[in-house]
Amino acid sequence: IADVQDKIDHELVSRAQIEEKIGQIAARVSEDYRGRDPLFVAVLKGAVNTMASFSQAVSIPVQMDFMSLSSYGSGTESSGRIIIRQDLSCDVRGRHILIVEDIVDSGRTLAWLVNELKRRGAASVEIFALLEKPARREVDVDVKYHGFDIPDEFVVGFGLDYDERFRNLDSIAVLKPEVYQGAHA
Ligand code: PRP
Ligand code: MN
Ligand code: MG
Repeated sequence: IADVQDKIDHELVSRAQIEEKIGQIAARVSEDYRGRDPLFVAVLKGAVNTMASFSQAVSIPVQMDFMSLSSYGSGTESSGRIIIRQDLSCDVRGRHILIVEDIVDSGRTLAWLVNELKRRGAASVEIFALLEKPARREVDVDVKYHGFDIPDEFVVGFGLDYDERFRNLDSIAVLKPEVYQGAHA
C-alpha cells in the first residue's frame, strides 16, 4: 500500500500557503467578531482541517459546532442534493455564525446551509471558504472570507477527499489519473 504522497500528480496549494492565508483571514475575523461571541460552524467532513487551523489562529474566544453534510456521493461530481449526516448540537437562535468550509464548488451546500441557519433564527450568517472553484459555480453564495481560487481540477488534501481517502494529505493537490481508474491501492 502506497503512501499518499506517491499518489499525487502535483501540488496546488502548499501547507505554508494555507497557513499564511488562514492567519490573514483569522486576523480579520478576530477584529470583525470582537465582542460578538461568534459561533463557528464547520461543515464536516471536509472542513475538519480548516476548522482546526483557523480556530487556533483566531485570537478571540469562539464557540464551535459541527454539521456533517454530503453533496457528492462517492464520485467526483456533485449530486446537487444535500444530506444531513449529523446535525448541530446547539441552538443557533440569535447567534452570529461564521460557517467554516473547505471548498465552494457548485455552491449548493453553502446556499442550502445559509438558508437553513437563517431559518433556524441565526442573527447573522457569514462564510469562510478556504477554496473556491469559480468555473463550477451554479448558485450564488456570498463568501465574505475567501482563501484561494483554484482551477476546475479534482483536488484532495487538507480535509478534501476522493472517495473518502486523502483527507489526511497536509496540502491541496491533484491526484494522478491512475487513482481514479484503479481500485484502492
Ligand atoms: C464537498 C466539500 C463541500 C461541498 C462543495 O463536501 O467539502 O462541502 O462538497 O460542493 P458544492 O459547492 O457543489 O455543494 P462533500 O459533499 O464531498 O462531503 P465531505 O465534506 O464529507 O467530503
Ligand atoms: Mn464538505
Ligand atoms: Mg467529499
